[in-house]
Amino acid sequence: MTSQRSETNAAVSTADVELHYGATAVLKGINLSLSRGKTLALLGPSGCGKTTLLRLVAGLLSPTKGSVSIAGQIVANESSGVFSPPEKRNLGMVFQDYALWPHLTVGGNVSFPLEMRRMGRAERHERTMRALERVGLGAYADRRPSDLSGGQQQRVAIARAIVAEPQLILFDEPLSNLDRELRENMVGELAELIATLGLTAIYVTHDHSEALTLADDVAVMRGGLIEQLASPDELIERPATPEVADFLRLGGIADLQYRDGRWFFGNSGVVLLGGVAAASRTARVLIPTASITAGDMVPGRFAATVLRSQFRGDGHLATVSLVGADTTELQVLSRTKLRPGEGVGLTIDVDQIRWFGNGVHLSKKENLENV
Ligand SMILES: Nc1ncnc2c1ncn2[C@@H]1O[C@H](COP(=O)(O)OP(=O)(O)O)[C@@H](O)[C@H]1O
Ligand SMILES: [Mg+2]
Repeated sequence: MTSQRSETNAAVSTADVELHYGATAVLKGINLSLSRGKTLALLGPSGCGKTTLLRLVAGLLSPTKGSVSIAGQIVANESSGVFSPPEKRNLGMVFQDYALWPHLTVGGNVSFPLEMRRMGRAERHERTMRALERVGLGAYADRRPSDLSGGQQQRVAIARAIVAEPQLILFDEPLSNLDRELRENMVGELAELIATLGLTAIYVTHDHSEALTLADDVAVMRGGLIEQLASPDELIERPATPEVADFLRLGGIADLQYRDGRWFFGNSGVVLLGGVAAASRTARVLIPTASITAGDMVPGRFAATVLRSQFRGDGHLATVSLVGADTTELQVLSRTKLRPGEGVGLTIDVDQIRWFGNGVHLSKKENLENV
């Protein structure tokens, strides 16, 4: 299957893939393409179909409609009946629960895929040790998995996935069983390992920071569809929908109404922006966290009440509601701790606001030019 690999062919692609369980459509038409040497993250809330899509690429499931290709070869096609089983797809897999065999040593676990390929003992040993050294576990080959910490066990699973040098590695929430500090360290390590080995990888996660850290491209999924597929920079700069912006925690989403030449928060009397022309009567906008400065509640600022606040490493991230428009919740970053119920005054840099759909507002400049 690997004999016709070509640089120009995508490492993985899917065309109109659907997966139904009875009458329930879990995947509703997935189109994606991943280049060799790149990492694609599948990001989305629990139940949106990430694992199902990964299992379709792995060959653990067969599509109800559409086709899957690996390295330019069709490995599953519902209409022609082509189906290549997992062992013929030359891929490695890493799961959330590690899936190590407890009765085998660490070395035994890692060399298992090579035994399946009937590789000779000497080469098996050499490759196993090389894979273990790559994940920093060269000294642990004779231990049992149960003697290792969770982070070390996950490294063993990664060594096992790379030992046969597969063309593609699939990760399904590999770090979600680890505690936060270890997870944050391992994300960086994993990104480095993927880059050093030049791996092509699909990485499933519900954690936006993991996806944005690790991946070259991120497919944000919702309800069995890809909502947006783009680079991390593009996603942050230009989220396609309010749902993407919300899932990536880019800031607060507000519904606006246009009345008498001004944009109000919903049907409240609080004006976000005035003196502009508008192409529609209503709009949904993202007010990025980075566009808001929180200070004392003084005239000229938006009065807001702190609902809750959480320390984030670079400050306290607070969710606030606007006084007079309390269905609008915004996110602000503050150096000092903000307490629930506390009043704050917000300054919003309106140029950083992202307008969705047809609610596009015309800036003052455009407005004047159009007169
Ligand atoms: N074997 C199955 N039979 C019926 N429904 C399933 C089956 N496996 C998964 N699902 C449903 O498919 C949806 C997507 O599941 P999954 O791909 O595991 O989501 P994710 O990995 O994004 O959390 C869920 O609603 C789940 O309940
Ligand atoms: Mg899953």
